[in-house]
Amino acid sequence: MNSTTSPIINALLPAAILTTASMSTLLLPMLILILSLFLFLFLAGRRKSRKLPLPPGSMGWPYVGETFQLYSNNPNTFFALKQNRYGPIFKSHILGCPCVMVSSPEAARFVLTRANLFKPTFPKSKERMIGPQAIFFQQGEYHTRLRRLVLRAFLPEAIRGSVAGIENVALRALQSWDGRLVNTFQELKTYAFNVAIVSIFGKDEISYLEDLKQCYYTLEKGYNSMPINLPGTLFYKAMKARQQLAQIVAQIVSSRRMQRKTEANDLLGSFMEAKEDLSDDQIADNVIGVIFAARDTTASVLTWIVKYLGDNPSILQAVTEEQEEIRKSKEESGDEDRSLTWIDTKRMPLTSRVIQETMRVASILSFTFREAVEDVEYEGYLIPKGWKVLPLFRNIHHSQEIFTDPDKFDPSRFEVAPKPNTFMPFGNGTHSCPGNELAKLEMLVLLHHLTTKYRWSMMGSESGIQFGPFVLPLNGLPLRFSLKSRAEEQAV
Ligand code: HEM
Ligand SMILES: *[C@@H]1O[C@H](CO)[C@@H](O)[C@H](O)[C@H]1NC(C)=O
Repeated sequence: MNSTTSPIINALLPAAILTTASMSTLLLPMLILILSLFLFLFLAGRRKSRKLPLPPGSMGWPYVGETFQLYSNNPNTFFALKQNRYGPIFKSHILGCPCVMVSSPEAARFVLTRANLFKPTFPKSKERMIGPQAIFFQQGEYHTRLRRLVLRAFLPEAIRGSVAGIENVALRALQSWDGRLVNTFQELKTYAFNVAIVSIFGKDEISYLEDLKQCYYTLEKGYNSMPINLPGTLFYKAMKARQQLAQIVAQIVSSRRMQRKTEANDLLGSFMEAKEDLSDDQIADNVIGVIFAARDTTASVLTWIVKYLGDNPSILQAVTEEQEEIRKSKEESGDEDRSLTWIDTKRMPLTSRVIQETMRVASILSFTFREAVEDVEYEGYLIPKGWKVLPLFRNIHHSQEIFTDPDKFDPSRFEVAPKPNTFMPFGNGTHSCPGNELAKLEMLVLLHHLTTKYRWSMMGSESGIQFGPFVLPLNGLPLRFSLKSRAEEQAV
């Protein structure tokens, strides 16, 4: 490089001592020289980045890539095999897209926190179905604004007053389970849906609940269907239901405006604040988006908790004792009002560790998607612009180097806080889960009443696992729940 640049600089130097008269005639050649120098340096730089190798890995067949291998069996086996063969950064090709998968805490942090290099990416059909202006798909200023509005409604200060409301929802759900054989996941979806509705709309919009539920179920049925928008298809029905959902939300918004009830401290109130100036469409897309983000995630974590507690009687016993302790102390306090408080939920350390360990072992979101917005160099590899990048949460959560005996369910491992970026059930960085406090709260509240009031037995056939889109116990974990007798409650 030196041998190339120094003659150029030497050639330029004499120009400096020339007279001003000859200066103007020299200006053009000088400019050309300087420009070509920059062009040369630019090209050299580019050639360097092109010379970087792609990460190791195989791309499979053209177009279909390795989609078949990924979806033909347990996706976790696919990721684990790849990681063993190629290390923590490898390339692959799924669903028609070349991609780089990363499974080390450092690489996952890099991808999740460099929002300027990696943007969220979803199939267009999913974007249309949830709503193109919803928070997940955004970057930059609009994303920051939405995130502030969502966080403001779901931070601890905002939700600590809603514990009793959530408790009501939990009690109603559990009452309906007594003596029945239930599909645990389906029931918990209803629970998580109802909690989401209360935290979005407050208590007074319950009159719309059934309509909202109907539309949402139709939307859900079409979510994983072929995106063919012709009358009769599931996709078409889902898009119709989506329109109806948006109309219901718009109705609620306008009736609030009419009653000048625009300062409610629920999520809708946050979206409706006048100075934010969100359109009805923007509000609807984000309301539907939050229901979407809140329901199946929380319900599948809760389903796994019920499963792991059933499989580990001594842990169930310890959790029940912790919850009985709280129930008794409330009885003994002599207070009329026995409903749970925010403070109560902070006295559940063991139950909280059960939730953490469940999120680690089950890792219901095995990975997430980003897309490189430019050529990115990482650890000496090139991640080309336009490629998908997948941080593999499940592989990190099941790494032997990070968690000893990683497949074992052992809540006590969380007595010591995990190292940064080794445990990311809620992601990290710009798009990390703004609902994580609400999710933990509603799980604790349900578990309080479930463990103190109910018993359930495994039927022997619930050891299977089903995949896609969420990892779940087979058939949603069918179980028979029954109320404990008063004597049983006291015996704990
Ligand atoms: C246990 C239950 C839950 C889990 C495991 C979970 C997990 C996650 C994860 C991993 C992300 C980040 C995805 C990414 O980076 O690509 C995320 C985003 C999000 N979650 Fe959750 N979530 C849960 C419950 C909830 C609840 C209850 C709400 C709402 C109240 C919620 C609202 C959201 C929203 C709005 C985003 C998108 C944030 C953004 O793009 O800026 N989630 N969630
Ligand atoms: C997210 O990343 C930051 C910065 O690296 C780190 O301090 C924090 O612990 C991470 N969060 C999680 C949940 O790992």
